[in-house]
Amino acid sequence: MLGSMADIKIKINTDREVMVKQGDSLYATLADAGVFVPSACGGRGGCGLCRLTIPNGVESQPFTKPEKHWLTDEDRTSGVRLSCQVKVLNDLHVNIPEQLLKVKACQTQVVSLRNLTYDIKEVRLKLLKPDNMEFKPGQYIQVRIPPYELSRLPIFRTYSLANDPAESGEIELEVRYVPNGISTTYIHQYLKEGDFLSINGPHGNAFPSDGPGNIILIAGGSGMSPVKSILLDMVARREKRTVRYYFGAKALRDLFFVDLMREIEKKLADFRFVPALSEPMPEDNWSGERGLITDVVARHLPDAKDTMAYLCGSPLMIDACLKVLKSKGMTDKHIYYDKFA
Ligand SMILES: Cc1cc2nc3c(=O)[nH]c(=O)nc-3n(C[C@H](O)[C@H](O)[C@H](O)COP(=O)(O)OP(=O)(O)OC[C@H]3O[C@@H](n4cnc5c(N)ncnc54)[C@H](O)[C@@H]3O)c2cc1C
Ligand code: FES
Repeated sequence: MLGSMADIKIKINTDREVMVKQGDSLYATLADAGVFVPSACGGRGGCGLCRLTIPNGVESQPFTKPEKHWLTDEDRTSGVRLSCQVKVLNDLHVNIPEQLLKVKACQTQVVSLRNLTYDIKEVRLKLLKPDNMEFKPGQYIQVRIPPYELSRLPIFRTYSLANDPAESGEIELEVRYVPNGISTTYIHQYLKEGDFLSINGPHGNAFPSDGPGNIILIAGGSGMSPVKSILLDMVARREKRTVRYYFGAKALRDLFFVDLMREIEKKLADFRFVPALSEPMPEDNWSGERGLITDVVARHLPDAKDTMAYLCGSPLMIDACLKVLKSKGMTDKHIYYDKFA
């Protein structure tokens, strides 16, 4: 007989058990139980981030197409599965890194919404319950978008934290509108000041505050978000190293936070903001850097051996920049990036 009540036992690591309902994916079931597994695709098999080791309980479920794509042979033989691809059908045992068990759900309220460009919105959220979230620059949260016209079920999407980590009680996101995107349509067209929004976090690794001599930051569009947090943290820490920030946009209307970047130039010991436009319009009267951000970085960077980098933006942009940085001598261990896929 199929059960529908909370009659399935999930054992987490060696010392924790939760009773859950049968039938949903492990990823969704854990979220309902307050355990938030990282995801960039909202549980659709598209990101590979929700991997967990499941010592037993899912052996009878064949590997799905996304699992064949994201998991190596070694992963598969050692019990790693994508938690969004396996269903909770019987008791099971899952190993979850301790860091993930610290991720908290939080109720927030929208305190302000502001258009930064025609397609990027700044969203400031006041943390209500709990009223604080400690995070580090480069980390991100998951936002729960409630059911509405475009989605019958709640969905989760990932957004980088944009504010100074020292700021307590509020968080800031910069969200770029994706046509017909479930989350961004909701945030741009439905969300209002005063609305409540559930989030969980923080997720992901921080951009380290120490490392080799120079720092390069590269972003495009809403990739500005984590870089802003990294820079505000550098100001607070009085970063002394050379920092260069290359920001790629199509035209002048896609540039934002330029005044803030100029202020940061005055506050940091050796910081330069280099915005570049790939398709400036005649009326932009643009006299700054032109071209794809990869070409601009290649022109400006003679040698990247003693350098660490953080990149954020579209997968295409990041892959192209990685090639440039490596051709200039940068090693993998000094390159950090977030692909906004
Ligand atoms: C670590 C991480 C951090 C992120 N931080 C941010 C952030 O700070 N700000 C931000 O705006 N976004 C960020 N993103 C992207 C964000 O998580 C969503 O993917 C994005 O907002 C689209 O969600 P959606 O529900 O509106 O679109 P969906 O409903 O998921 O997608 C609708 C359609 O658009 C396509 N699509 C999805 N995303 C894009 C895109 N970016 N460009 C073009 N087409 C797309 C999909 O393939 C699909 O066909 C981040 C992603 C990751 C992985
Ligand atoms: S949540 Fe993206 S692959 Fe599972």
